[in-house]
Amino acid sequence: MTYQNIILHYPYSPLGITAPHVAVIQLNRPKVLNALSTDLMKELVNCLNTCDDNPEIHTIVLTGNDKAFAAGADIAEMATSTPIDQIIEQRFKSWTLLGMISKPIIAAVNGFALGGGCELAMSCDLIVAGDTAKFGQPEIKIGTLPGAGGTQRLTRAIGKSKAMWMILSGEMMDAQSALESGLVAKVFPAETLLAEAVEMAKIIATKAPVAIRLAKEAVNKAFETSLKDGMDFERRNFFLTFSSADQKEGMRAFLEKREAIYKGK
Ligand code: CAA
Repeated sequence: MTYQNIILHYPYSPLGITAPHVAVIQLNRPKVLNALSTDLMKELVNCLNTCDDNPEIHTIVLTGNDKAFAAGADIAEMATSTPIDQIIEQRFKSWTLLGMISKPIIAAVNGFALGGGCELAMSCDLIVAGDTAKFGQPEIKIGTLPGAGGTQRLTRAIGKSKAMWMILSGEMMDAQSALESGLVAKVFPAETLLAEAVEMAKIIATKAPVAIRLAKEAVNKAFETSLKDGMDFERRNFFLTFSSADQKEGMRAFLEKREAIYKGK
């Protein structure tokens, strides 16, 4: 499929050196700061599914450009819509589908990650930021509130008071504060962000793919369940890895003091 609003870089080969098992997806509506139109979101989900179905791809990096990861849902597309329009067009269907991707997705954020852009970054498995990144849920400034998980995910990520302030004021948070608040995992100079995110993706991509999937599932469970149920879920996924050839290989390789060779089985 050819995409109009995103670019899939796979194999990802900057300077002719391929990053093995890593796909980079770039949001590509620069004139409107990567505003997340319905078409863009459909293409993104389609592309993520393609990556998810490709056994050669182990990790995905989602990024934008220097100025914006994404400045939110497309306000021009949304401005005159009615509740019924939004129900019929299933406005957030793509967002629900995003949650079904089994491989790790790293959001690499330079510039603005606002509204739906911040929500999209938070829908990924982890966020890394360039030092000029700005996060925010400014929907309150245009007469509405976050609709793609901002009130829930931001609150879980940075705590009630900080999330409440950002959502009620529409004020942005800079990269350093996002790091201190736990919204992002690491901050890099903006110009090296993508390369650093790809390095992180490569590290994840060398691990046993089945264990990676099960670990991602288990961490995400922490947002949806009680501690007891989450621990039970984790334990079952832990036991499950012992039915994989990769667990046998990983532990054998450790004992034999050599690198493991994983087959994803
Ligand atoms: N939707 C549509 N177009 C957008 C957009 C958006 N979310 N954000 C920016 N644009 C467009 C602007 O209209 C402008 O287009 P023109 O050149 O045709 O005028 C272009 O992108 C560049 O933007 P600015 O000139 O405004 O750039 P700036 O550097 O002066 O300001 C900004 C940058 C502070 C991010 C500002 O663009 C802005 O406030 N954008 C809107 C942010 C926002 O409110 N996001 C929430 C959207 S609602 C939502 O996301 C709901 C949800 O939960 C799913």
